[in-house]
Amino acid sequence: MMADGTLTPVLMDVDTGVDDAMALALAWAAPQIELVGVTTVAGNVTLDQATTNTLRVLNTIGATDLPVYRGMSRPLVRDHFDAAHFHGNDGLGGALFPDRERSVEAMTAPEFIVQSARNYQGSLTLCFVGPLTNLAVALSLEPDLPDMVDHVVVMGGAFQMPGNATATAEFNIAVDPEAAEQVARSALAVVWIGLDVTHSTNLYREDWDLIDDSATGGPKVVREVCRQAFEARFADLMHLHDPLAVGVLQDPSLIVGVDLPVTVDTSVRQTAGTTRMMLDESTHTNQLVAVEVDAARFRELFGSVLGIPLSDRE
Ligand code: RIB
Ligand code: CA
Repeated sequence: MMADGTLTPVLMDVDTGVDDAMALALAWAAPQIELVGVTTVAGNVTLDQATTNTLRVLNTIGATDLPVYRGMSRPLVRDHFDAAHFHGNDGLGGALFPDRERSVEAMTAPEFIVQSARNYQGSLTLCFVGPLTNLAVALSLEPDLPDMVDHVVVMGGAFQMPGNATATAEFNIAVDPEAAEQVARSALAVVWIGLDVTHSTNLYREDWDLIDDSATGGPKVVREVCRQAFEARFADLMHLHDPLAVGVLQDPSLIVGVDLPVTVDTSVRQTAGTTRMMLDESTHTNQLVAVEVDAARFRELFGSVLGIPLSDRE
């Protein structure tokens, strides 16, 4: 919600996989957010699959007119690698959502990012929950982009804990370290939502069991995209990585952030994609790294906004 009580215009960039799907459903249902469009990028799955998945999820939640723009099909420099082992080859955990004869817009994702920043004259918030390739290209198209948007919330990084793509790197950053490094070096006001906090924000099996199979809309998305993890892999919980970025958009007080410069390892070593906070108090950027989260309050927000019952498991 803007200071004047109007809705916050938000552009979401996704690599629609399981948690991206839940993040889209959460953003669409959030009372304070006006989703202006969705851009897609290669990440969890290929660009084509991520784009198809995004259209299917938007159909399921009733966002049938929300425009979708295809972005980059591969990282800036490196070969793409996916996360199909976790999200399934389809990227949605086998969930079958309806197709609709709706295609993407003609404009590319980076062009739409720049055009939207211009149109919203500084009030647009960006929410990136996949590799940062589209944002890096948008910065090259429009170097003044940092002055043209309110801020960016990024789900990405592992600052004071191990990675999930490699021993030290989180997936979104590991897929495109060069793009992340360009974002970190830019003047963009970034809030980095890394594994440091997303590993505390979970959907438990007990919660999932409470969602009815006849659910529709957002609850249906959560029920179906998590089914494979909970029923086939017997998972006990699902980390709500991308939904937390949307939660922080709605309520920045959910996290405690530190204002320290971020570096990204772009070497060819095993550490590529590692993110670090420069413990140099002298330099201040307009970037925040989330180091604490009120997980219980986020859980309440996730359940209440999406209209799904939650177990009493903490
Ligand atoms: O590390 C978690 C992130 O990587 C999430 O955005 C998930 O969707 C994958 O893209
Ligand atoms: Ca994602």
